[in-house]
Amino acid sequence: MALKVSTTSRIPPFLAMEMMNATRDLEASGANLVHLEIGQPSSPPPPAVLQALSKSLGTTQTHSYSVAFGEMPLRRRIAAHYADWYGCRPDPANIAVTLGSSLGFALAFLGAFDRGDRIALANPGYPAYRNLMKALGLEPVLLPSRVAEGWVPQLEALASGGHLPDGLLLASPANPTGVVMSDADVEYVCRWCDANGVRLIMDEIYHGLTFDTRPTSALLHSDTAIVVNSFSKYFCMTGWRLGWMILPDDLLEITERLAQNLYIGPSRPMQEGAMAAFDDYDTLDQNVLRYRENRDVLLRDLPPEFLGDMAPANGAFYIYADLTQLSQKVLNSVDFADALLVDAHVACTPGVDFDHELGHQHLRLSYAGSIDDMLEASRRINGWLPSYLKNL
Ligand SMILES: Cc1ncc(COP(=O)(O)O)c(C=O)c1O
Repeated sequence: MALKVSTTSRIPPFLAMEMMNATRDLEASGANLVHLEIGQPSSPPPPAVLQALSKSLGTTQTHSYSVAFGEMPLRRRIAAHYADWYGCRPDPANIAVTLGSSLGFALAFLGAFDRGDRIALANPGYPAYRNLMKALGLEPVLLPSRVAEGWVPQLEALASGGHLPDGLLLASPANPTGVVMSDADVEYVCRWCDANGVRLIMDEIYHGLTFDTRPTSALLHSDTAIVVNSFSKYFCMTGWRLGWMILPDDLLEITERLAQNLYIGPSRPMQEGAMAAFDDYDTLDQNVLRYRENRDVLLRDLPPEFLGDMAPANGAFYIYADLTQLSQKVLNSVDFADALLVDAHVACTPGVDFDHELGHQHLRLSYAGSIDDMLEASRRINGWLPSYLKNL
C-alpha cells in the first residue's frame, strides 16, 4: 500500500544543484570540467577566519548549543559592519544569525505570512524562493521583468486588479541577472511597501559584490522590511552555512520561537570563525576585482549571439545569456546545458531554473572562478558551438 507523501511539498528541483550532482558524477569518471554552474566563490575565506575557527575548536563553549539568534558577540560584530558600510548601526537584538540565508528566508516566510498569502517576486529570480513558498502553502506572484527595463521588476504590475500582495521579495544585486537596483529604486520600493502595507523582504546577499558603487541597504529606508544577508558570497563561506537577517521589532518574538523550534540555533564553531570575517575587507575586495575581470573576459570572448541582449551585469557574479539569436530553431536551455556539459565539459545552469516560461532561451553563467577558468570556458564554448548549431 502506498503511504502518504506530501503533495504541497512536491516542488521542482533546484536545477543548479542537479547540475552540481551531474558534474560530480562526470568528475568521478575523470572528466576535467570548467564550472560556471554554481554561484559560489572559488576563493577561501580570509586566513583570519580559518584561524578563528580552528582556535575555537575543542573549547568548552563551541561544543554546546548557541542561543537561537546566534551569540551576541557575532551579532554586535554584524551591527558594526553596517556602521562601516552603510553608516547605520542596527540593534544587535534585531539581528538573527541563520543557517545560510536559506533558513533566513524560511523564517521570514513562516514568521510574516500565513498559508494562502501572496508574495510578489521578480521573474526571472532565484528558484528556491518560489519553490519554498509553494512548500509552505504561500502563493508566489511572479512579476515579469524584462531585459529592456534592465530586468528591474515593474512595481505597477503589483497593484493590478487592485489586489495588492501581502509581501514583496526583491534581490539586489540579483540572481540570475547580476543587475543592481539603483539607490533611488531601493528607497522607492521601501516607501511604496510602507505606504501600501506590503511586507518587504530584501535579499542583500550579494552586497559587497558590485563593480561600480556600494548600494544602499533597505535597512536605511524602512523600519518594517526584513533584510536578509549571508556569509556565503562576498565572505566566501558558502559551505559554512551561515547567514543573518535584520528583523523589524514586530517579527522578533515569532521568529525567535520559529528558530528555536526549527533548528535550535546556528553552529557555534562557525560563528566563532565568522567573527573574523569582517576584519579583512581588503582580501575580500581583491576577489571582487577578479570577478569584474572575469565578467569582462566572458563578455569579450564569448560570441555576441551566445550572450544575446543583456542588461548591464554590474553585480553578483552572473551573466544571464539570452540564446535566442543563436538559431532559428527554439532552443531548450536544459538540452543546451546538457550538451555543453557532456560535449564541451563546461557546466552552466539552464534558465528554466529561474524562469519557467522564458528560461528555456536563457543560460546562467557564474563567473566566480579564476580568470583561467573563464578563458578556458570561452575557448571550449567557441570550439563547440558551431558544430552543435550545425547538428540541431
Ligand atoms: C539570490 C540568492 N539568495 C539566497 C541564496 C542562498 O544562499 P545561502 O543559503 O548560501 O546564504 C542564494 C544562493 O545562491 C542566492 O543566489
